[in-house]
Amino acid sequence: MEFKEILEERYATKLFDGKKVDEEKIEQIKDMIRLSPSAINLQPWKIKIVSDDDLKEKLSPAAMDQPQIKSCSHLLVFCAEKDLRANADKIISGLKASGIPDENIKFLESVLDNFTAMFPGEAAVCESQHNVFIATITAIYAAKSLGIDSCPMQGFNPEAFSEILEIPDNLVPTMIVPLGYAADEPMPKTRFSKEEIFF
Ligand SMILES: Cc1cc2nc3c(=O)[nH]c(=O)nc-3n(C[C@H](O)[C@H](O)[C@H](O)COP(=O)(O)O)c2cc1C
Repeated sequence: MEFKEILEERYATKLFDGKKVDEEKIEQIKDMIRLSPSAINLQPWKIKIVSDDDLKEKLSPAAMDQPQIKSCSHLLVFCAEKDLRANADKIISGLKASGIPDENIKFLESVLDNFTAMFPGEAAVCESQHNVFIATITAIYAAKSLGIDSCPMQGFNPEAFSEILEIPDNLVPTMIVPLGYAADEPMPKTRFSKEEIFF
């Protein structure tokens, strides 16, 4: 499928038919999400994948009982990393472990130091969330490229999701993306005109 067709045909699916997506396709979607861009390549995200029906049932009221939760095949819970510094350290130690000399890493190390210092406390969550949105978008188009429907969703309670899924404290559930095969019909695409958008 051409990318333009993917853009035209993807829509926010409200109800899935309950059919399971092959694990092989889920792996392909994971591979594509992994390639998402992020500021300074910090990749400040972790994604919990829920396919268990009992868990989806528990999560449903925490997402306003929107029908996607129980009817989807897999539910991707995109979480923002609060600790940007930890990701920066991980990148640097990975480079060191691969044998790259310290003097070649120094510049990146200082860029990472300056960048992470720009986002103290809660600001780090906000910064991570901007990046998480990009990974979410990769997921919905990656899925569509494989014939899988989806819906980007923010209508859920992050605290309740954290509790039910036992999400570690350093992560903030930010967006959810149910995947599966649509059991509804797309609405016509309504968008502002180019004249209204571009100036
Ligand atoms: C940040 C964000 C949050 C959204 N939250 C929900 C949601 O909670 N439930 C839902 O059914 N759709 C949700 N949507 C889907 C939008 O309603 C949908 O993308 C928009 O109406 C355009 O329709 P289309 O995606 O079918 O072209 C969300 C989309 C975005 C980008």
